[in-house]
Amino acid sequence: MEKLVIIGAGSWGSGLARIIGDNGYEIMMYDINQKQVDEINQFHTNRAKLPVGVLNESVRATSNLKEAIAFGAIVVLVVPTAVIRSILYEINAVIRTPKLFVNASKGLEPNTFKRVSEIVEEEISPAFVKGFVALSGPSHAEEVILQMLTLVTAASKQSEYAELIQRIFSNQSYFRVYTTNDLVGVELCGALKNVIALASGIVTGLGYGDNTKAALITRGLVEIKRLALVLGANEATVYGLAGLGDLVVTCMSNHSRNYQAGLKIGSGKNLEQTLSEMTMVVEGARTAIAAHQIIQRYEIYAPIMETVYDIIYLKHDPREAILELMKSSLKPE
Ligand SMILES: NC(=O)c1ccc[n+]([C@@H]2O[C@H](COP(=O)([O-])OP(=O)(O)OC[C@H]3O[C@@H](n4cnc5c(N)ncnc54)[C@H](O)[C@@H]3O)[C@@H](O)[C@H]2O)c1
Repeated sequence: MEKLVIIGAGSWGSGLARIIGDNGYEIMMYDINQKQVDEINQFHTNRAKLPVGVLNESVRATSNLKEAIAFGAIVVLVVPTAVIRSILYEINAVIRTPKLFVNASKGLEPNTFKRVSEIVEEEISPAFVKGFVALSGPSHAEEVILQMLTLVTAASKQSEYAELIQRIFSNQSYFRVYTTNDLVGVELCGALKNVIALASGIVTGLGYGDNTKAALITRGLVEIKRLALVLGANEATVYGLAGLGDLVVTCMSNHSRNYQAGLKIGSGKNLEQTLSEMTMVVEGARTAIAAHQIIQRYEIYAPIMETVYDIIYLKHDPREAILELMKSSLKPE
């Protein structure tokens, strides 16, 4: 039976550990935070990152990267995308056998627009990369750890690896994995939806209601589609679990950090205050930069994403910026 290494023992790393622990696999979690590592080993909990639920007693954690990487043939990345390149660089120094890399983090690198699969290709010697799978979809750790029914997608250019991850992570009680070959689409949708989630939080923070949020999700999906198609995604992915599915949950759920961060910004806080009050990563803030650069480079019409960028980086007033969207020229849907 495969052994899995989870890089990042945070909220989602713990959710994923719960699933594969329930499914009977051996797991080693790695994190730089020694307190979290000790708590997982001693109490099988991770209260600072995931206040609800418990991990299986068999799940172990370490802060020693070499020990972690040596443990298993499947390496699951679940750290903020801002640190993925540096962690992969460290992994490349200690890796001794080929691994299947699985990414569950959601973000795009500013300036390069690189997806995590491309960063893995750049940072890990080809001899040590068996394959790459992106695991993505509407899946908040707070619900997964309580075994609430959740459906996601495993994407890989190599079907056998997407199917392997599908088998390992699926169970018949609460977690079901679909597969696709559209790696580009799944990675892009997972990253870009966080920018729209920030907008959803902002409009809610401004006091707008469900009509506004529904409009935002619908028009936000159109913008995600425009960017994703230009960068090579399949249209069907946009309407699947990793696209529409994840967009809906992240724009509607109180568990979404991006939505929560947007709420604070809509209520008048700036990005720095907002991020300092968050205990978990807000990927949308970083991806908003990459999205803005992609929009500029390819001359894409994406006014919601641009408004998010203007509010958080150019310090535009949130209410005025959102109302500006209402003044754009009238057009067919
Ligand atoms: N939380 C969720 O429900 C959820 C669901 C799906 C996807 N995601 C994605 O998963 C990724 C992680 O999110 P999260 O919510 O688990 O974040 P988190 O903040 O809860 O956890 C991140 C973990 O990474 C660790 N870390 C940071 N820098 C590190 C380094 N240099 N070396 C080793 N460990 C390091 C932190 O100590 C922390 O434990 C994000 O991209 C997020 O979008 C999260």
